[in-house]
Amino acid sequence: MPTNPCSKSNTSEDSSFQFVVSDSGSELKRQLKLPSYYAKVFTSSDVSLLVLCLTSEGDIVGACSLSGMFHMAVLYIDEGYRRKGLGSRLFLETIRLARERGMSFLTGAVPPGHIPALRMDFKVGFKVIRHFKDFVLIMRPLNLRGRFTYFFFRSTFSLFPEFLLARLYDTGVDIIKKIASK
Ligand SMILES: CC(C)(COP(=O)(O)OP(=O)(O)OC[C@H]1O[C@@H](n2cnc3c(N)ncnc32)[C@H](O)[C@@H]1OP(=O)(O)O)[C@@H](O)C(=O)NCCC(=O)NCCS
Repeated sequence: MPTNPCSKSNTSEDSSFQFVVSDSGSELKRQLKLPSYYAKVFTSSDVSLLVLCLTSEGDIVGACSLSGMFHMAVLYIDEGYRRKGLGSRLFLETIRLARERGMSFLTGAVPPGHIPALRMDFKVGFKVIRHFKDFVLIMRPLNLRGRFTYFFFRSTFSLFPEFLLARLYDTGVDIIKKIASK
């Protein structure tokens, strides 16, 4: 049986799955077969929160990380466990923890044609800031300050040229291009 990768206490659970905060993505990288760019994101030193989804046997079947100053969310569910509502549940648990830790918003960047991810993001409350050529920039406000930030970003981001925002959003755009090119 795999060892539990989490040094912190469990955050929530039901009969089949539990959601736990992890200190490092190294066990995740060994257990879950991840495309290399997801492995890179989940194990990056930039990650401020990493939440894992575990089966009752302790197998890791999903992960969601928040990184950088924009709290960029990246989520991955093992192929065999998709379309069971796990992605949304893991995201909602990450949102709950982020709010608990004082974050005001999360952001995400999704290729425009990535319907599963976009639908899931909208289902858990993300809103569009701006559509770019390679990605849709989205935000999930978590409190009043987050809602102000969202309206500020939405109104001002349309004034900036795309290349400048892409630089600001470096890692995100890098991942998005890789997802989009799959
Ligand atoms: C995107 C991803 C995380 C979704 O995980 P999931 O556990 O399958 O998602 P859920 O079962 O919670 O589905 C949530 C909603 O997303 C939408 N959705 C999910 N998969 C879908 C698919 N294949 N086609 C269309 N809609 C889909 C649905 O609207 C669904 O809600 P519904 O079941 O009420 O209709 C998963 O497909 C994945 O890990 N993909 C690879 C990594 C990735 O692309 N991550 C996103 C970029 S950061």
